[in-house]
Amino acid sequence: MRNCLRVLLPLLISGFVWTISADNDDQGLRTERISGSAGDVLEDNPIGKLKVYVYELPSKYNKKILQKDQRCLNHMFAAEIFMHRFLLSSPVRTMNPNEADWFYTPIYTTCDLTPTGLPLPFKAPRMMRSAVQLISSNWPYWNRTEGADHFFVVPHDFGACFHYQEEKAIERGILPLLKRATLVQTFGQRNHVCLKEGSITIPPYAPPQKMQAHLIPPDTPRSIFVYFRGLFYDVNNDPEGGYYARGARAAVWENFKNNPLFDISTDHPTTYYEDMQRSVFCLCPLGWAPWSPRLVEAVVFGCIPVIIADEIVLPFADAIPWEEIGVFVAEEDVSKLDTMLTSIPPEVILRKQRLLANPFMKRAMIFPQRAQPGDAFHQILNGLARKLPHPKTAYLKPDQKLLNWTAGPVKDLKPW
Ligand SMILES: *[C@@H]1O[C@H](CO)[C@@H](O)[C@H](O)[C@H]1NC(C)=O
Ligand SMILES: *[C@@H]1O[C@H](CO)[C@@H](O)[C@H](O)[C@H]1NC(C)=O
Repeated sequence: MRNCLRVLLPLLISGFVWTISADNDDQGLRTERISGSAGDVLEDNPIGKLKVYVYELPSKYNKKILQKDQRCLNHMFAAEIFMHRFLLSSPVRTMNPNEADWFYTPIYTTCDLTPTGLPLPFKAPRMMRSAVQLISSNWPYWNRTEGADHFFVVPHDFGACFHYQEEKAIERGILPLLKRATLVQTFGQRNHVCLKEGSITIPPYAPPQKMQAHLIPPDTPRSIFVYFRGLFYDVNNDPEGGYYARGARAAVWENFKNNPLFDISTDHPTTYYEDMQRSVFCLCPLGWAPWSPRLVEAVVFGCIPVIIADEIVLPFADAIPWEEIGVFVAEEDVSKLDTMLTSIPPEVILRKQRLLANPFMKRAMIFPQRAQPGDAFHQILNGLARKLPHPKTAYLKPDQKLLNWTAGPVKDLKPW
């Protein structure tokens, strides 16, 4: 290493100030970029590498649903809306379906919120079926491949399994009509029926302007060692305990509630975003799903994500060097979090912080309302472009049929 690092770790008895300062030849936090495959892929430009045809659907599948509830623009699954808007004006869009590499069906399946704003996917299967029926009868493209050159944005907790409870989601499986399509989804867990091979795992939506508005100077000292805000138990939905977050969050609380290195609580302060920028490590434990928006927030705010979610498949894992920027802790090792984190050498921490400071790393995590090169929209396109050309097996022989239109729960077959 070229620079001589002088690392100061004063633990002040009053308030535990944890300062890490690098005595580099330039001031402030330097950024570092991974060279080699990961970093280069992150900066790939998909424009010119694929053409996408956007089906025109009646507005009841998208815009009308949004008109009924504008809150759909702000929740964790809003990517389905912003991806539609992005594609409409993207240079990869083609108006000529005969030259398209990919077909996209703009359908907002998660824009169905409870009064308290919780998105529920109960109508999604019928809605999706209705949309597939429509595109397959009005255009010739679906029948050529039964969807193998089509992609769908299905950001809900368990993707196209369309249920918010894991057991039920597993029982349902991926909607039969989407079995050949490429799914763009937030859910990612290895060896899980709701993640099929070839899916593109994306970050959940976190509001970019709001995060931007809470930025503090990047050289602000990180005086909090470990930070977490959120639920430890979900007494309403998991009264017995142990099912929610497979007990991992409960274990965080029980082991570290009185540990001064851990700033953890269920309170959600107005300074939440600022606090993350003042923290060295941000815990990103699983909840009901393996991921949460904390992952995005941690990267955007330069706080090293501590990922506690066994078998998680992280967003754009082929482009983002998660192993290098984050810390992975097995669910069963939660009780050792303190020793694991305090024993990470300062130079390792500094390197992770420099990698996180790379604007490309942050941008890949967000869906900005004016798209920017390298943002999550572009990473999705990169993922789709890398899957080209479609294999020969994508194209069916005339009259060949693989999908079963009547498979699945009977109530999914009712017209939408
Ligand atoms: C596609 O196949 C279905 C039956 O499998 C048929 O009803 C429909 O008309 C076909 N679409 C086109 C555009 O030919
Ligand atoms: C399609 O699924 C239905 C319902 O599960 C089943 O009864 C039927 O036999 C299946 N058809 C084929 C051709 O596999």
